[in-house]
Amino acid sequence: MTKLFTCILTVALLALASPLASAHDPSPLQDFCVAVDNPNSAVFVNGKFCKDPKLTTVDDFIFMGLDVPRNTLNQLGSNVTLVNVDMFPGLNTLGIALARVDYAPYGLNPPHIHPRATELLTVIEGTLLVGFVTSNPDNQLFTKVLNKGDIFVFPMGLIHFQFNIGETNAVAFSSLDSQNPGLITIANATFGSNPPINPYVLAKAFQLDKSVINYLQQKF
Ligand SMILES: *[C@@H]1O[C@H](CO)[C@@H](O)[C@H](O)[C@H]1NC(C)=O
Ligand SMILES: *[C@@H]1O[C@H](CO)[C@@H](O)[C@H](O)[C@H]1NC(C)=O
Repeated sequence: MTKLFTCILTVALLALASPLASAHDPSPLQDFCVAVDNPNSAVFVNGKFCKDPKLTTVDDFIFMGLDVPRNTLNQLGSNVTLVNVDMFPGLNTLGIALARVDYAPYGLNPPHIHPRATELLTVIEGTLLVGFVTSNPDNQLFTKVLNKGDIFVFPMGLIHFQFNIGETNAVAFSSLDSQNPGLITIANATFGSNPPINPYVLAKAFQLDKSVINYLQQKF
């Protein structure tokens, strides 16, 4: 009887605890773990080898050049400079990355997803219309016009975008809670996959004529 009760209590406690469980980058097991490509005498942690702490210098913890505006002369009128563990090895195992985003007037950072990170976006310059859409079945759009100094959070894994509705350039910096947030640009992944998704599948999914799908697949 006591055993059964303990068992039920354990299950109940586990059920209570599970909504609080998280599945983000693992917590660091040491002060830091600067990533190295050379596996000699290194330990394998979280996809990257750690540099020997004795050989680590302050330069492993600095990334420079994000003050420089990026070129936005492209179709979308935006330019994302991502700084993840690949560009900044000192981020290894720390569960964090960042990005600078430049927007020309009416430039767009198109609808996309970060499969492994929540994003905190801070507007440094300009006026952005931003938004994210919740998952099924509601698909509710949360949207807002942001000005300089405003911060917006895009919850992990949800489709989101930023659009410069001002007549001047805009700049934002984003923090992301993964050393490798990942990026799925909706249009590119859907219409520009390699190899292409069967156009009949997309025609049916989007309720569009196959000729429109062919056109979109050529664009991406
Ligand atoms: C972003 O800006 C950099 C530097 O200005 C440039 O080299 C790069 O081609 C730009 N990327 C896009 C997608 O326009
Ligand atoms: C998406 O596709 C467009 C058109 O081919 C391309 O210009 C753009 O660089 C792609 N974006 C990403 C994030 O790969």
